[in-house]
Amino acid sequence: MCGIVGYIGTRTAYPILIKGLQRLEYRGYDSAGIALMDNGNASLYKCKGKVRDLENLVSGQNIAGTIGIGHTRWATHGLPNDVNAHPHKSMNGKFILVHNGIIENYASIKKMLTKNGYKFQSETDTEVLVNLIENIYLEEKVSAETAVQTALRMVVGAYGIVVICLDEPDKLIASRKSSPLVIGCGEGEYFLASDATPITEYTDRVLYLNDEEIAVVSTNGISLKNLNNEAKELVISRLNLSIESFDKGNFPHYMLKEIHEQSTTIADSFRGRINNDMTQIMLGGINEVIPRIAKAKRIVIVACGTSYHAGLVGEYLFETFARQQVEVEYASEFRYRDPIIEEDDVVIAISQSGETADTLAAIRMAKEKGALILGICNVVGSSIARETHAGVYTHAGPEIGVASTKAFTAQVIILTMMAYLIGKRRGFISDETYHSLIEQVLEIPDKIKEILKDEDHIKEISQKYVEATNAIYLGRGFLYPVALEGALKLKEISYIHAEGYPAAEMKHGPIALIDDKMPVFVLGTKDKYYEKIVSNIQEVKARKGKVIAVVTQGDTTIKHLADDVIEIPEIDESLSPILSVIPLQLISYYIAVMRGCNVDQPRNLAKSVTVE
Ligand code: M6R
Repeated sequence: MCGIVGYIGTRTAYPILIKGLQRLEYRGYDSAGIALMDNGNASLYKCKGKVRDLENLVSGQNIAGTIGIGHTRWATHGLPNDVNAHPHKSMNGKFILVHNGIIENYASIKKMLTKNGYKFQSETDTEVLVNLIENIYLEEKVSAETAVQTALRMVVGAYGIVVICLDEPDKLIASRKSSPLVIGCGEGEYFLASDATPITEYTDRVLYLNDEEIAVVSTNGISLKNLNNEAKELVISRLNLSIESFDKGNFPHYMLKEIHEQSTTIADSFRGRINNDMTQIMLGGINEVIPRIAKAKRIVIVACGTSYHAGLVGEYLFETFARQQVEVEYASEFRYRDPIIEEDDVVIAISQSGETADTLAAIRMAKEKGALILGICNVVGSSIARETHAGVYTHAGPEIGVASTKAFTAQVIILTMMAYLIGKRRGFISDETYHSLIEQVLEIPDKIKEILKDEDHIKEISQKYVEATNAIYLGRGFLYPVALEGALKLKEISYIHAEGYPAAEMKHGPIALIDDKMPVFVLGTKDKYYEKIVSNIQEVKARKGKVIAVVTQGDTTIKHLADDVIEIPEIDESLSPILSVIPLQLISYYIAVMRGCNVDQPRNLAKSVTVE
């Protein structure tokens, strides 16, 4: 979604802003722009397209100035074009603003401003906001900060904003509600951004703005207040991210790098959380609330997209090992359904970014109803991580590719460890089983490496299905969510229509689609459903479908039936989602590359969905 950057200090702002916008490209966008302040004069450049188009536009122009703001826009109101791109300037030229989020009551505010003589250039809600601020500033003759505070008290919706007032050109004014904003604190210089990605190379000291806080940032420091002008405490956190983690290294795409990283990221997820003699799982972030989780009558998991699929794996895990009732909900549905949430329920929010608007809203609602709220997030210091009562970070490192890969396996391993831990505490897992499961967790990194050795073979298989227009993914039990995830991966980056089903559901409709052009990806590892999956494969073959099966090493039965097989090492069925998803990630990656798709930034998609 939209990305915001800002700089105020003593260096030339332009290169810092451009680099910052490049670092935020992964979030997804369709236009870009910057505004620079030089001795009280503003230069504003913006255009449809990529940051490199913006650089071309600015080339040869005035780029002086040590204060500036920049933006990558993911269209919500109005087409992606030059006019709708940010920054937006107010009608009388007093304010310039960049915005991430949606002003829901923009239409009524626009009407009011139109009556006051305001004219609008763009179709955006953002231009309404910047003019509202200016209108208040001019009519009420207040400071820029007060004008911003007053305007923000009037708006309904979500915002992360950075504002320049041309009458007060030595400061940036920033505020947020439901859209993230971080301020990096250097020596006499400050870096503002939607997430820490652009900030890492300059400082590790950051201030995460909370909802409805307003920061006035100058080279002398930050003043932090709420919208009612009450002072707020500055809480500076330390970032623990290396700049290398944002590079592609020797890989052609972030997605491929992130698929390959999984042998290490899985180890990072369990490192320090399993004791040396493999008899204990220790999840420090939820340690204090383990008795409450173990007593919970019901666990509700809320998430979106890939994180939702991880949540579905969680359902099988908690039911199998902890014998607890689990419901997995799309956060967007859950938040508007007035769901029944009791005080002894535990709600687990899963989110890579920790900023997904629907997931954030869902936990806020569940919190009000008195449930214990846990988070499984990847981004440290993200909104969801901060608003939950307790939680476990996945430690997968920055995930830049829009298609989630390593975050999924990290979420699943955390859920697995939680389910084993709670299951043990509730007395449903024997010491012996517990030990054996933990041992197998520790073997995952090597098993992932083994799967990745088969990459050339997986690439060859991908080549055969490049021209497909549809695909079906089938799995059962723990592997049903993996079928959903495999289908999501294929559709989001290669634009091939794909659906995942529990394999037995095929007979209830999807089987009608099968002909000799339909690739059917089947998760057929050796588990309790194996014989049934074999029958499902036979049903597909009887209708001339093409079967690509992920099987356990040494399998002979499916090998004889399927058109293509990919072998993965044997592992307990509860851990098989982590291994079996990897070939599917690689297949979708290679098919997308062979189709010439932009793998890391697929069309229309945003990495962090900060609007509902
Ligand atoms: O940051 P989150 O995990 O909350 O994001 C949820 C979804 O937007 C995300 O998983 C999305 O579905 C990915 N593009 C999937 O690859």
